[in-house]
Amino acid sequence: MAEIRNILITGAAGFIGSHLCERLLEEGYNIYGLDNFDPYYEPSLKRRNLSGVLHHPSFTLIEADIREAERLNAIFELYSFDAIIHLAAMGGVRHSILYPKLFAEVNMIGTLNLLEAAKTKGVKPFIFASSSSVYGKSGKVPFSETANVDHPISPYAASKKAAELLCYNWHHLYDLSVICLRLFSVYGPRQRPDLAINSFSKNLQAGLPVPVFGDGSSSRDYTYITDIIQGIYLSLRYIENHKVFEVINLGSSESISLSAMMAYLEELSGKQFIRETQYLPFGDMQITLADISKARSLLGYEPKLSFRDGIRLWWDWFQSSSQ
Ligand SMILES: NC(=O)c1ccc[n+]([C@@H]2O[C@H](COP(=O)([O-])OP(=O)(O)OC[C@H]3O[C@@H](n4cnc5c(N)ncnc54)[C@H](O)[C@@H]3O)[C@@H](O)[C@H]2O)c1
Repeated sequence: MAEIRNILITGAAGFIGSHLCERLLEEGYNIYGLDNFDPYYEPSLKRRNLSGVLHHPSFTLIEADIREAERLNAIFELYSFDAIIHLAAMGGVRHSILYPKLFAEVNMIGTLNLLEAAKTKGVKPFIFASSSSVYGKSGKVPFSETANVDHPISPYAASKKAAELLCYNWHHLYDLSVICLRLFSVYGPRQRPDLAINSFSKNLQAGLPVPVFGDGSSSRDYTYITDIIQGIYLSLRYIENHKVFEVINLGSSESISLSAMMAYLEELSGKQFIRETQYLPFGDMQITLADISKARSLLGYEPKLSFRDGIRLWWDWFQSSSQ
């Protein structure tokens, strides 16, 4: 297969996208970072996320919305991409229950538009950021890629599952090579402000209450950002030489309870949370835990950071960035 030099990264200004741009520029690729600076969270934070790459000679910023098919087609006419890493999405399980149509438009139609543009211009390698949320009520823990994922419990999860199906369809019909990466609760510097570790840290620092769902036993497979970026990079290397459709979990394979996560933050900060007990929201899963044996064997993926080490790095960054 053709060598990959020019990569389109959608959602480039986001938490994961901005780290990925930095890493792939370091690896010597030409990066075209596309984002519409959606206002779900402060667009100025997204501009700041890109500050490290904006002036890099191999980086091009494309401000565009993936819902606009004609605009995408014009972009694909203007530039020549060898691969696409599609991260742009509406995120947030609870937000998706409030705005299901928006999630369908961005996460499903937006993905469809990109697949169509890729097909038309013959861009074959396509990596899609799916989510552990697709496992929904699939039951068996740890979650394996072979599990039945027909029971998502939020519009966000349903939209990611639907996008995976579209990816398979375009692989089957048009020979695109696709890897759908099911990412598990990513954290680290620049984490999205709505995600638990970030929002809890802010409230802890400010002495504001935080919601504790149920008895605090709900748990997440938190994965440090550098491990996720390494997993995406390995997927890129893999897809360069393989014509495939694969669904692959990227997690840490360690599940941390809400109570334990809070205890770590209390230890690091020397402060106590003000706890407000609430019911577990209807769209939230009780547990996520990745079986990463496929990522290990296919990609050589091996997460490096334990939660204990990762949360310390997070806390150091959080303190220095909130000065
Ligand atoms: N962060 C996690 O824990 C996690 C877990 C599983 C999956 N994912 C997936 O990884 C990807 C990146 O997540 P993130 O945490 O970096 O989120 P993020 O919100 O920080 O980044 C997403 C980016 O997509 C952009 N975007 C949104 N709608 C767009 C549109 N219509 N057109 C163009 N750009 C648009 C946003 O402006 C944002 O910069 C998403 O697909 C998300 O669903 C994230």
